[in-house]
Amino acid sequence: MAEVVLGIETSCDETSAAVLARRGARPELASLVILSQDVHKVFGGVVPELASRAHLAALPAVVEAALDEAGVSWGAVDAVAVTAGPGLVGALLVGVVYAKALAYAGHRELIGVHHMEGHLFAPAVEDPALEPPFVALLVSGGHTLLLDVAAWGRYRLLGATRDDAAGEAFDKVATLLGLGYPGGPAIERLAAQGDAARFTFPRPMLDDGYEFSFSGLKTAVLRAVRASDDLERDRPHLARAFQDAVLDVLVTKLERAVRATRRPTAVLGGGVACSRALAARAAARLGGIARVAVASPKLNADNAAMIARAGWFRLAHGERSDWTLDARADLPLPGLEAA
Ligand code: KG4
Ligand code: ZN
Repeated sequence: MAEVVLGIETSCDETSAAVLARRGARPELASLVILSQDVHKVFGGVVPELASRAHLAALPAVVEAALDEAGVSWGAVDAVAVTAGPGLVGALLVGVVYAKALAYAGHRELIGVHHMEGHLFAPAVEDPALEPPFVALLVSGGHTLLLDVAAWGRYRLLGATRDDAAGEAFDKVATLLGLGYPGGPAIERLAAQGDAARFTFPRPMLDDGYEFSFSGLKTAVLRAVRASDDLERDRPHLARAFQDAVLDVLVTKLERAVRATRRPTAVLGGGVACSRALAARAAARLGGIARVAVASPKLNADNAAMIARAGWFRLAHGERSDWTLDARADLPLPGLEAA
């Protein structure tokens, strides 16, 4: 059984490494280093080729810093857990090749981790008592997943997005409003000063099922931006109305899932779960029905601690990756059961 696991995450624009070490029966976070690539800000979005190059330049130093911060030498590491997908294939490849080289040269164990399973495990890093069954809403820049989690590693997909991911909608609307990348935090800040009554946007597919659709909402915001005679004045109100619409849809579907499954807990994860507004709204809506579990923002944004934690779970169940482990942009979520 692993005592010390090194996690590596390079699926998008964060270069991250973390160390988890056993304390008693549980893994404890010994270090987490996250280097956010600033270069993409100039382009208003992630440029894949630049992301790969930046990972390549930074990863060795980031891993070293994580080991230093944890106060462990490479010799103490039992296994390397690395994001194998989904994500930008060139960016993933840097992490996977580096992890394979480390594990192969040092005769250590290797485990490839699904990025969204990492997000699912994020709250368990800070709250070791968190255990399924629960419903999970995973909302990132690339995915919007509503899962019924009967046990770690056993997932039933209730619903996903038909078009844009929730975070993607935040990023696209931020661009429409002339805000920078990433859009989510900028919209949340601006929305806090907005008047909720000034604009109202549609809540797509609110009344039925568990599926999401955000592309029509984006078009509605575009129309309102074009119709505005003073964007400077309207910007906070537009941000507020957009955020209210997205969060209302997310929380309504989450509540529907909690009521249908009768799970006692609702987990929020992924970059959009950095939103205090989302956590507050979910807690208000689910009060008296379910506890809302959400990690701190550092663990909801892309990071290697969640990858090490998901890897820890897989290793504890006897899983290992071999040297054929490859980066896959479209890696399927493991443990997905038919609905
Ligand atoms: O999980 P993540 O860091 O990367 C991916 O796996 O995609 O998620 C990034 C997404 C971005 O779309 C970003 O705009 C969004 O999370 N995000 C937020 C907030 N902070 C980050 N969305 C809404 N409100 C926030 N405060
Ligand atoms: Zn992510």
